[in-house]
Amino acid sequence: MPAIVLVGAQWGDEGKGKATDLLGSSVDYVVKFNGGNNAGHTVVIEKNGKREKYALHLLPSGILSPNCVPVIGNGVVIDISVLFQELDGLEARGVDTSKLQVSANAHVIPPYNRTLDKVTERFLGSRRIGTTGRGIGPTYADKMNRIGIRVQDLYDEGILRQKVEAALSVKNQVLAKIYNTRAADVDEVVAELLSYAARLAPMVTDTALELGRALDRGETVLFEAGQATLLDVDHGTYPYVTSSNAVAAGACTGSGVPPTRIDSVIAILKAYTTRVGEGPFPTELHDDMGEFLRKTGAEFGVTTGRPRRCGWLDVVIGRYAQRINGVTDFVITKLDILTGLEKVPVCVAYDVDGVRHDEMPVNQTDFHHAKPIYEELPGWWEDITHCRTFEDLPANAQAYVLRVEELIGARVSAIGVGPGRDEIIERFPLKPAVAS
Ligand code: GDP
Ligand code: IMO
Ligand code: MG
Repeated sequence: MPAIVLVGAQWGDEGKGKATDLLGSSVDYVVKFNGGNNAGHTVVIEKNGKREKYALHLLPSGILSPNCVPVIGNGVVIDISVLFQELDGLEARGVDTSKLQVSANAHVIPPYNRTLDKVTERFLGSRRIGTTGRGIGPTYADKMNRIGIRVQDLYDEGILRQKVEAALSVKNQVLAKIYNTRAADVDEVVAELLSYAARLAPMVTDTALELGRALDRGETVLFEAGQATLLDVDHGTYPYVTSSNAVAAGACTGSGVPPTRIDSVIAILKAYTTRVGEGPFPTELHDDMGEFLRKTGAEFGVTTGRPRRCGWLDVVIGRYAQRINGVTDFVITKLDILTGLEKVPVCVAYDVDGVRHDEMPVNQTDFHHAKPIYEELPGWWEDITHCRTFEDLPANAQAYVLRVEELIGARVSAIGVGPGRDEIIERFPLKPAVAS
């Protein structure tokens, strides 16, 4: 013990990577349990007096902490060529990646699923999801359809060929006859996947067993979600979601560690809201203030470079994230970006066709019609990037945090005041006391 789950509270890009990195030095394992290289986490580290920026996609952010074992759990979908590129990139910068463990049960993103992701989006036209085009959706669909390819299949050529043939017997019809694109060749796909097997072999493990044993030994395991609560396939703004379980419960199915072993859940909440891709977004700003947040917050996707849609903080979403994830601690990130505003609007409820909603409407149509009801909190002008204790913050910034804390229903244990590793205020310890 303990096992800690870290999730995003909004639509992603809340700063999960930075928060994971912060905890990395005090945990033994960091586990990615969902998603794939649709995620993009930026971590900024001070090295030899210089700020170094790392962009991670498939690897858990814990890979940057020398003593931490990074794990890719069974719930992840892996584009193996991207995994190797990311490992090579880190090794070239002097990061030791030799401890990485990969679940034998994780699914592999075969090349034809990248094609399918892109052509499906093209065919959906105005009804597209705005995916990252990495093959995530089709690979999770294959998993549920029981025609997926798993990491362990790379080590039995006969089985691998049978599985690729089975998948392509259906998919090639779709690719060629519906989407009018090139059918995939079984031999080529099998050869590509087999070419990865030798390099991947030393990393492949029964990660569920390994993590269970680590917890038995009293070690600390941190589960780092990709994406976020409102992108969760069950609890998010379906169909404008990703295809995995990004909420805290996903940490259990995506790793093989049971719910009874989880001690705390940390949710990362950005002090304003962003979203990439399509879908409803009640507090979205289409004016100068939206542009201000995008520019000041550098809100451009780490994975696709797309400008992120920006809007004010929505505590209806914060409260929802608290309830769905069982959040014990919130980390508010990017508070520094709100510096210099006379008033800071916070959405506290929605007006849906004349009816007030204090909680997330269950009906998708209602959420599309939701108009934010704002409470305006007084702003602050002082630079807060150097603040390291809660008391260092200007009175209005403190009042903002306390009001948000009251509205979201769980304590705010840390506050981000800049992208750097040290630019954070820790109000309460994020790591629960070790149970004896
Ligand atoms: P993730 O996907 O949740 O890991 O988040 P991203 O890395 O995609 O986006 C968060 C961005 O905000 C990154 O560029 C971080 O370096 C940056 N960031 C994180 N916390 C803070 C903060 O408190 N203040 C500022 N200014 N930037 C932050
Ligand atoms: P991190 O981990 C923000 C969005 C895409 C799209 C939808 C489905 O960095 O927070 P997909 O390719 O997953 O099928 O796309 O989900 N999306 C993200 N948005 N941050 C992410 O990850 C995202 N991963 C996927 O933009 O709207
Ligand atoms: Mg991101």
